[in-house]
Amino acid sequence: MRKLFVYYSHTGNGEAVAAFLAENGYDLRRVTPKKELPRPFFFKIMQGGFLAGVGYRAPLVGFDADVANYDAVTIGMPVWNGRPACPVNTVLKALDLTGKQVSFILYAGSGAAPKTVKKLNRLYPGALVTVLKEPKKYPDELQKITP
Ligand SMILES: Cc1cc2nc3c(=O)[nH]c(=O)nc-3n(C[C@H](O)[C@H](O)[C@H](O)COP(=O)(O)O)c2cc1C
Repeated sequence: MRKLFVYYSHTGNGEAVAAFLAENGYDLRRVTPKKELPRPFFFKIMQGGFLAGVGYRAPLVGFDADVANYDAVTIGMPVWNGRPACPVNTVLKALDLTGKQVSFILYAGSGAAPKTVKKLNRLYPGALVTVLKEPKKYPDELQKITP
């Protein structure tokens, strides 16, 4: 079974998940937005929080949306303001996941993201949604993943 992890990471938690999944046979496809969030914390939270709150689809650099060669696609996302990070909104719109085994891995400061879990359960019935608390800082969280 060919497995792909499509993910975004702003501060490295997604990278921790990617390294774990690569060890478990996944190909990796990291998403790069045309513009990253501003560096200063206040502006980062304001901008990222607002844009995620309105479901903004951030333009991506050279994103390959072709997943035809894969049987299973896992999408990894940071949680911003309780919602998927903006670059992931673009991914969700672009990918054709028909007939794939789909799952999601969320990484959040709080380790919880009920709004996003609810939304993903509604849009992708049957898809496994796993929420991790800062796996870069707490590597044991990776054990929650079913690879
Ligand atoms: C703009 C912004 C908004 C965030 N909002 C939330 C939030 O609503 N709930 C939460 O638990 N964590 C929130 N976080 C923390 C991130 O979800 C968390 O640090 C995540 O692990 C980051 O993943 P990354 O390092 O791969 O980018 C936010 C972070 C940013 C930058």
